[in-house]
Amino acid sequence: MIQIAILGLGTVGTGVAKVVAENARQIERKLGEPLQVKSILVRHFKNGPFRQLMTDDFGKIEADDDIRVVVETIGGVDAAYEYTKRALSAGKHVVTANKQLVAERGCELLALARRKNVSYLFEASVGGGIPVLHPLTQCMAANRIDEVYGVLNGTTNYILTRMVRTGAFFSDALREAQAKGYAEADPTADVEGIDTGRKICILADLAFGYQIDPEQVPTEGIGKLSLRDVRIAQRAGYRVKLLGRAVRLPGGGRTAYVAPHLIPEDNPISGVEDVFNAVMIRGNATGEVMFYGRGAGELPTASACVADVMECLQARPRREEISWSADTAGFEGPGELKTRHYFRIEGSLTDAAMAFGQVEVLSEDGETAFLTEPLSGDSAARQSRLLNVLACMRVLDG
Ligand code: HSE
Repeated sequence: MIQIAILGLGTVGTGVAKVVAENARQIERKLGEPLQVKSILVRHFKNGPFRQLMTDDFGKIEADDDIRVVVETIGGVDAAYEYTKRALSAGKHVVTANKQLVAERGCELLALARRKNVSYLFEASVGGGIPVLHPLTQCMAANRIDEVYGVLNGTTNYILTRMVRTGAFFSDALREAQAKGYAEADPTADVEGIDTGRKICILADLAFGYQIDPEQVPTEGIGKLSLRDVRIAQRAGYRVKLLGRAVRLPGGGRTAYVAPHLIPEDNPISGVEDVFNAVMIRGNATGEVMFYGRGAGELPTASACVADVMECLQARPRREEISWSADTAGFEGPGELKTRHYFRIEGSLTDAAMAFGQVEVLSEDGETAFLTEPLSGDSAARQSRLLNVLACMRVLDG
């Protein structure tokens, strides 16, 4: 019998307990032994099917040699960081869905895990139930990874989809996402792109091998996005999606940023709707490879956590592939990246042409909406400084 503990009993913690119970037979067949949740750390005891397993004392879990794997689903950094360090130091494997902790302290926690000869795994931290970190680090290991981008936040994608498809109000769509267990405890992290920022950092850390700190990453969410721009874009054959994007720069540096983009309809990312996420990884040998699935929610996220638990227990777990250098040098802002830009301005086509030369007009309905030729973010900002800009987004050019 292999015993594990779960820290926290929110959406993901509950999902992990359910998956371990409901899929017990499949899991046992693969592990060769039954897997059992022995303890669940909670702050407040509550009634329910897991009542007998609850404790509010982490020290008991830490001292229990029968517990081989700890699944941290507390979220945030403070207590989660403290308990993760103590669990690893006690020689237990740790598995998590906590993107904030991995993005901010992952490098240090991975080093501690290596010193203790245990695993620290976090497949569920990016893309929920989508296997993406494992393929990135293992199946694509023979590539130089040049770019990673994707729809990485289920809540904002759900909100955008509901607003566009059914005309739902932002606040109602957000409430629905919260009720379905997709949103963060503080949904500002979803709406303002912070959650996407943490996930693109983790992907970039693994893809490029160097730490990118979330606070280095320019981040713009969907809070200021207007449905008017979404509709203009749609009529012109584009979908608007919040993307996290990380690119290896020609000089050897790296950049990453988060912002809403216009996605051409022939790019499969444009069709990613509801809570679904998709991650595109461009390797120099593979070209683009896309991963698609449910990016949030109880059971999809738990599926990735429990698979990591099972991997920790394998005879030869992956440890070396899942690491990166703490060196943050070489990070640059995305200002030099060239793409077409979408603008909606209060002004005429003549104003647009004076600022940008040739443009592709998308709408002249009182205001002017247009696409520029490919140009860097810095040039777009410089050339538009005399215009009254109502909206500006990059286009994801292939
Ligand atoms: N709040 C996150 C999302 C949860 O909506 O994608 C999964 O990381």
